[in-house]
Amino acid sequence: MDKSKIPAGQRQALGALMDDHRAVKKLFKSFEQSKSNKESIAGETCNQLAMHARIEEEIFYPALRGVSDDLDALLDEAKVEHGVAKDLIAAIRRAADSDRLEATYKVLTEYVGHHVEEEEGDMFEAVIKQNVDLREVATRMATLKEELLALAA
Ligand SMILES: [Fe+2]
Ligand SMILES: [Fe+2]
Repeated sequence: MDKSKIPAGQRQALGALMDDHRAVKKLFKSFEQSKSNKESIAGETCNQLAMHARIEEEIFYPALRGVSDDLDALLDEAKVEHGVAKDLIAAIRRAADSDRLEATYKVLTEYVGHHVEEEEGDMFEAVIKQNVDLREVATRMATLKEELLALAA
C-alpha cells in the first residue's frame, strides 16, 4: 500500500502501523544476514512486535469493532493470529541461546509476513473503504507508543 494514497482520515494511523511493519521486516532481513548478532536482533524483534501488538490490540482494533461485518471477521482472525505470534515470540525468547533459535525465528518471519499482508491488504483496504475516521485514534496510538518506548528505555 502506498502511504501517500491513503485518505487524510486514515493516513496517520495506518501510516504509523505500516512504519512498524517496515521496521520489523528490516529486522527480519538483518537476522538473516547476521552471523554473530542473531540473539540480540531476535530480542529486538520480539520487543518491537510485542509493542506493535499492544498498540493494535488496545487502540487500533477496538476502534474498528462494529464498523462492518467484514471488518469484524478480519478482527477475529487477527486476534487469533496475534495469539499464535505471541506463542512464537515466547518460544524465541526461550530459545534465544539455543540451536532452535534459527528455526523458530524463521517460522515467526513467515507467520508475521502473512499477518502483515492481511492487515495492509484486506483490513486497511476495508478501513479506507468504510472511511473510518482514525485521527483521534492515531493520536492515542502515538501516545501509547511513546509511553511504551519510555518504559523500554
Ligand atoms: Fe496485527
Ligand atoms: Fe500490524
